[in-house]
Amino acid sequence: MNILGIESSCDETAAAIYTDGGLISNVVASQTIHEKYGGVVPELASRAHQQSIFGTVEQALHEAGMSPSDIDAVAVTQGPGLMGALLVGLCFAKGFSISHGTRLIGVNHMDAHMYANFIENEQTFPFLCLTVSGGHTQLIHVTEPFSHHLLGKTRDDAAGEAFDKIGKILGLPYPAGPVMDKRAKNGNPKFHKFPQSMLKEGFDFSFSGLKTSVLYYLQNKGDEAAQQAFLDDHLDDVCASVSEAITEVLIKKLDRAVSETGCKTVLLAGGVSANSMLRAKAQKLAQKRDLRLMIPKMAYCTDNAAMIAITGHMLAKRGQFNDLSLKPFARVS
Ligand code: KG4
Ligand code: ZN
Repeated sequence: MNILGIESSCDETAAAIYTDGGLISNVVASQTIHEKYGGVVPELASRAHQQSIFGTVEQALHEAGMSPSDIDAVAVTQGPGLMGALLVGLCFAKGFSISHGTRLIGVNHMDAHMYANFIENEQTFPFLCLTVSGGHTQLIHVTEPFSHHLLGKTRDDAAGEAFDKIGKILGLPYPAGPVMDKRAKNGNPKFHKFPQSMLKEGFDFSFSGLKTSVLYYLQNKGDEAAQQAFLDDHLDDVCASVSEAITEVLIKKLDRAVSETGCKTVLLAGGVSANSMLRAKAQKLAQKRDLRLMIPKMAYCTDNAAMIAITGHMLAKRGQFNDLSLKPFARVS
């Protein structure tokens, strides 16, 4: 079974091919146009997807040494994501399916982030997954394939959104998550204790208070010139302290979920699972609790089509296909 995966939910146009033997090609075209706006501009994202989707799919086929007739099914991100961006991928997938007679499979982007872990690891169930991306922060208990129990989610900003918005306050370019990560490596995480929200309350998260707290912390340093002088000396320390606050909450809740479910396999997923402090804390937790830990390699953490293709492959093996009435959805209900 050869599956072509297509991803276009946000600002990466991506195509990949996953076969019974594993992943054989993986192409990502990142959109840089959004940098100057400090965030993804939906209409620009849709246009950029439209421009690069043909070339991206062509390259994925070329790298796999395949032609469209070798593809058995095309798996495409159905949502959640930006509606216009999703439509570009979905319409392309439907066109591909009609013209080449392949089956069609709609893939949930958040499921795909989780199953990205199985590109390089054996499929293991049950597991707990902490999915942390720009749009979502979820703690999920997965008892068997596609049987997902949501333990908790963010009530406001997602973890990646918190990194990006706080980074913007600190004057970092978009997306600030990877830059903060780099800066934090040279800083002191104990430099300032920022609030760790909702630690005692169940499995839900909240990160918007942290953003406000960083804003007030900076404003307390004085006028704009004084704030800049402070950041010139301590940007790395502030980045490390913010990263500490975000990752501590994530790991403490994950730790509690391990206790409550008794689950011995733990997965990280989503763009923020590329964060080095989070990865190190997860490894420490795994050692302490004797857990099997899976973290996707960097290329499979942020948005990619390899994760869509493997999830499509898992669905195809279960006989789960869609017809041409497949519709995109912006949010998970
Ligand atoms: O999963 P993803 O590529 O897209 C969404 O589905 O949202 O995640 C993107 C998010 C952005 O907020 C980005 O800043 C964050 O992941 N991110 C990071 C790191 N790399 C990406 N955040 C912290 N540390 C990183 N190393
Ligand atoms: Zn994503």
